[in-house]
Amino acid sequence: MRMKDTVVLVTGSAQGIGRAIAIRLAQEGARIVVEDRQHNAMAGQTLDAVRAAGSDGCVVAGDVGVAADDRAVIAHAVEAMGRLDVLVNNAGVERRASFLDVTEADYDLVMKVNLKGAFFLTQAFVQHLRDTKRGGRIVNVSSVHEELPFPHFTSYCASKGGLKMMMRNLAIELAPLGIAVNNVAPGAVGTAINHELLTNKAERDALIANIPLGRLADPVEVANAVLFLASPDASYVTGTTLFVDGGLLWHYAEQ
Ligand SMILES: NC(=O)c1ccc[n+]([C@@H]2O[C@H](COP(=O)([O-])OP(=O)(O)OC[C@H]3O[C@@H](n4cnc5c(N)ncnc54)[C@H](O)[C@@H]3O)[C@@H](O)[C@H]2O)c1
Repeated sequence: MRMKDTVVLVTGSAQGIGRAIAIRLAQEGARIVVEDRQHNAMAGQTLDAVRAAGSDGCVVAGDVGVAADDRAVIAHAVEAMGRLDVLVNNAGVERRASFLDVTEADYDLVMKVNLKGAFFLTQAFVQHLRDTKRGGRIVNVSSVHEELPFPHFTSYCASKGGLKMMMRNLAIELAPLGIAVNNVAPGAVGTAINHELLTNKAERDALIANIPLGRLADPVEVANAVLFLASPDASYVTGTTLFVDGGLLWHYAEQ
């Protein structure tokens, strides 16, 4: 039980990678705050799965992209669970458009959820740790696109690149408080965020041809990396990115 006696908040955990993280950490004894935009049936299903894994938790709703919501989410989570030890910034969105067609609204949404959300939720979480004089761990789910260009997804890449530098900065600034900060960078995972791409056979085949391991990741394979970085096994790890991408980042092949 690698996460025994810890309370973990996972944003965007009503579905997809966030849900897999919630369940995987619960299997290791963590109590889970399931966070998402709404306290809906899907968030409830994640909590049911956490309980089926032998742990417990609660659902807290809020838009991570709104700083006031972030403060309220942390306050409600602490009220319900007594304290928080680990924050997983997983909520994320993407919008496809060629650079010249990107709208201000889509740019703002992507930056607001992916970067501003992680920024101000982390700030509220760190205030809680400081007030209770405890260390903790933060894991951001970024993307292989914190490093790798992805034409037609420039706002997404900018948000994930920003998350990389935020992680590196905070690893230094928060180390004296006993707080470790790391990123997990998935490659291609079979979830709703990729629905369009995954339902287009030609695009899907082209993507898989670029992945040395020759397949998409299962969400639990990302969750396993988050588990490592959230657990005491990673006690000397801070300021780094763990890629979970089947080799995609460093793949180069002559045509
Ligand atoms: N699926 C992939 O291939 C892939 C690859 C690399 C990185 N990622 C990253 O993994 C993370 C999870 O993605 P996923 O594939 O599970 O996507 P998903 O669309 O299945 O799930 C995203 C979740 O985030 C929630 N969310 C969105 N905006 C929110 C907000 N403002 N406040 C709170 N919650 C919000 C959604 O409601 C949803 O439950 C994202 O940060 C994404 O960028 C995914």
